[in-house]
Amino acid sequence: MSYVGLDLGTSGLRGLVIDDAGAPVYSTERHFSVSNPEFGWAEQDPKDWIDALDDIFDELKAKCPEFRDVQGIGVAGQMHGATLLDKSGAVLRKCILWNDTRSHREAAALDGIDEVRSLSGNIVFPGFTAPKLLWVRNHEADVFNRIDKVLLPAGYLNYYLTGEFVADMSDSAGTSWLNTGERCWSAKLLELGAMREDQMPGLVEGSTEGGVLRGDLAKRWGLGVNVTVAGGAGDNAAAACGIGALNEGDGFVSLGTSGVILVAKSSYSPDADSAVHTFCHAVPDRWYQMGVMLSATDCLNWLSRLLRRSPEELSGKLGDELKPPGFERFLPYLSGERTPHNDASIRGNLDGISMGTSEERIVQSVLEGVAFGLKDSFDAVNHGCKPVETLSVVGGGAKSDYWVELIATVLGIALRKPTGGEFGAALGAARLGMCAATKMSANDVMLPPEFAKEIEPNIALMPRFEEAYGYFKASYPAIKGIRNTEG
Ligand code: XUL
Repeated sequence: MSYVGLDLGTSGLRGLVIDDAGAPVYSTERHFSVSNPEFGWAEQDPKDWIDALDDIFDELKAKCPEFRDVQGIGVAGQMHGATLLDKSGAVLRKCILWNDTRSHREAAALDGIDEVRSLSGNIVFPGFTAPKLLWVRNHEADVFNRIDKVLLPAGYLNYYLTGEFVADMSDSAGTSWLNTGERCWSAKLLELGAMREDQMPGLVEGSTEGGVLRGDLAKRWGLGVNVTVAGGAGDNAAAACGIGALNEGDGFVSLGTSGVILVAKSSYSPDADSAVHTFCHAVPDRWYQMGVMLSATDCLNWLSRLLRRSPEELSGKLGDELKPPGFERFLPYLSGERTPHNDASIRGNLDGISMGTSEERIVQSVLEGVAFGLKDSFDAVNHGCKPVETLSVVGGGAKSDYWVELIATVLGIALRKPTGGEFGAALGAARLGMCAATKMSANDVMLPPEFAKEIEPNIALMPRFEEAYGYFKASYPAIKGIRNTEG
């Protein structure tokens, strides 16, 4: 028997096959683009996702012998995107993505209503789904009036695979329509968002069955008639399943395009005012908390485009030994910020530059600014609870040991780097497919990977970084009023 995990990211779709023992046997990817028709907008055509999915399954059929025995499929997806369908199931407009900030006014208005934070457990960030729908109502009434169902990106792939409208709890928690503590749609939140419950998909837990693969697709790919499709998950919950972060205090730092600090929780204890996200986990009776910074490795990517050198070359210039904090200070808000500032229109800053500022020192300040931004999220996640003692570190930026030691020193905890291989959202999704098809318990399936090394904080430099973090925190109020007026 085997299982397929799909991870629908912002830049592409990844497909992974695991065997009976949960070991990865084949993986492949397809890429697609994001369109930015206006400043702050980000959209994707759901047809590109389906073309990528068809292509991946055709490749699995042709090249992966284990694929013939697939029993379960799980889909993880970029969260918050609004895929709008009419009565016939046709897509009404391009999907408005998680990093689209056009609905910041609608988000602020919704967030200002008392019950909203207490029911959803979260600030209504502009990237979340409910404000997007209010924007569509205000600006595209003809589309809004024809909406029969709203699906998140992973839910749309589930619909294609099964013909059923289902969504899992972890992804649905990012809509601002879910009562996150009770794990059900909230009539009040739907009403405030001008939506109806019949426009929502049915809710299931991520690790249980969401539907069965459509007969025509099973035939096309040479599969059996009873392939289970799991409820699936939002990408961060799936990544937590991939790295085995299910139990209280387990978690990871993700140093990807965006930066995430995620910690699993065995009870529901929201703390919206600290701008931490509290979402349902992809397995029953668990939640997780997460701080999100919108630009992490993206800050280094920006610098790499300016300097025309790869991010690896730039970070490599700093050598192996952690340097004390520099005089140059970089604020990493290139695309706005969620935790802790909830400020979609703030932008970054570089100060303290002098005649002595070299290329290396700018690189150093960028890595430090991202580490300080993660510290903000770390403090938000730790606020009012037992402090986290260790985290795994994943994502493209984790390849740089310098950056990982810097983050360990700023957070004051050891960070564990998994041995190479699969441990991301696609693995988590495949594991959800396995749980849904076999009814195995999540604790038996979602085990942690092997860790190649544990990187300790540099104790000698910790006081210097604490002081520099103080300057970093003090810089935000100074630039708070400065807005990028583009668009
Ligand atoms: C989480 C979030 C991102 C997206 C895209 O709240 O917005 O992690 O899921 O990956």
